[in-house]
Amino acid sequence: MLFNLLVCSVLLSGLRTALAATRTSPPAGAVVVKAGTTTAGQFSTITAALNSLDDTSTKSLFIYPGTYVEHIDITRTGPLTIYGYTTDTTTYTSNQAIISFNSPASTAGSDDASGTLRIHKNNFSMYNVNVKNTFGPGVQAIALSQYGSQVGLYACGFFGYQDTLYANEGTQVYLKGYIEGGIDFIFGREGSAYFGGNTIGVLAAGGSITASGRQTNDGGSYVFHQNTIVLGSGANSGTAGSYFFGRPWSVIFESTNLEVAPNPAVWSLWDGEADSIDNVLNADFNTTGPGATKLNRAAWATQLTASEAAAFSISSAVGSNWQSWVDTSYFV
Ligand SMILES: *[C@@H]1O[C@H](CO)[C@@H](O)[C@H](O)[C@H]1NC(C)=O
Ligand SMILES: *[C@@H]1O[C@H](CO)[C@@H](O)[C@H](O)[C@H]1NC(C)=O
Repeated sequence: MLFNLLVCSVLLSGLRTALAATRTSPPAGAVVVKAGTTTAGQFSTITAALNSLDDTSTKSLFIYPGTYVEHIDITRTGPLTIYGYTTDTTTYTSNQAIISFNSPASTAGSDDASGTLRIHKNNFSMYNVNVKNTFGPGVQAIALSQYGSQVGLYACGFFGYQDTLYANEGTQVYLKGYIEGGIDFIFGREGSAYFGGNTIGVLAAGGSITASGRQTNDGGSYVFHQNTIVLGSGANSGTAGSYFFGRPWSVIFESTNLEVAPNPAVWSLWDGEADSIDNVLNADFNTTGPGATKLNRAAWATQLTASEAAAFSISSAVGSNWQSWVDTSYFV
């Protein structure tokens, strides 16, 4: 028994050491992006590095610290991983590689086209990179526009105001990252997404975190597990009691820690329309934290029991083969 405990704790501390790693130089084989570089073989922009890749082989990029003002659409076929420079791979809080662009959908032509980073490919992973759309309040302005399947975003930060994160198609996981916005800022129509262990920062405006626009009962779904909701930072920082978990359609929030209170109703109608809740499941389970004490959920809201909640998991969200493509060291 003692031996087992020892082995266990040695294994655990070994695991922690392995996890809390720095990544301050390029992983073997990675194509290097470094702002201002004049070194042969390196690229000063992410766009140039991506353009240098063939279409089909497995590739990776490593991005040195800097704010890269670029509007990026990734379409290559082969598996791709992007790594950002960081002194702590386990968290978004030490990220130093930033992709930033200012593009409202009204000018870009569509939500997708406004995305600072657009993923139009399968088999994509990204670690420790922050992605921002700096347009601010007014109209939709997407930071990440995601259309791929088997896509993993690990310890990344996504910053915007209206419609920050467009999980529109495909299977995808967002683990241990940061997602900030004011209105409908996690949204999409057919995407199947699992959000685990993220910090979600709410900005002013009294909008909804999610607006999952699936059109049928069997469309994609979003499952949230053990995320923490806080006030967003910087300009337009939010206020307690103003935001909603979502407006239709279906979203499940499990084991959410509310550092800041939502509107007591928790869920909102779509533009006040009573029929917007037909066929929806707006559900939560085990919502805790200082902001969870005075909730008075909307009439159509569902509070799941533990056994009902168990039906909503990473498998139900993105498929039972998830362990074949998700980096489980970030799994929450
Ligand atoms: C991802 O890549 C693997 C290995 O190349 C392949 O088997 C799988 O079908 C790809 N997944 C998707 C969704 O394209
Ligand atoms: C409830 O949520 C907390 C915080 O996320 C978690 O630690 C706990 O295990 C959850 N309880 C159940 C029964 O899932």
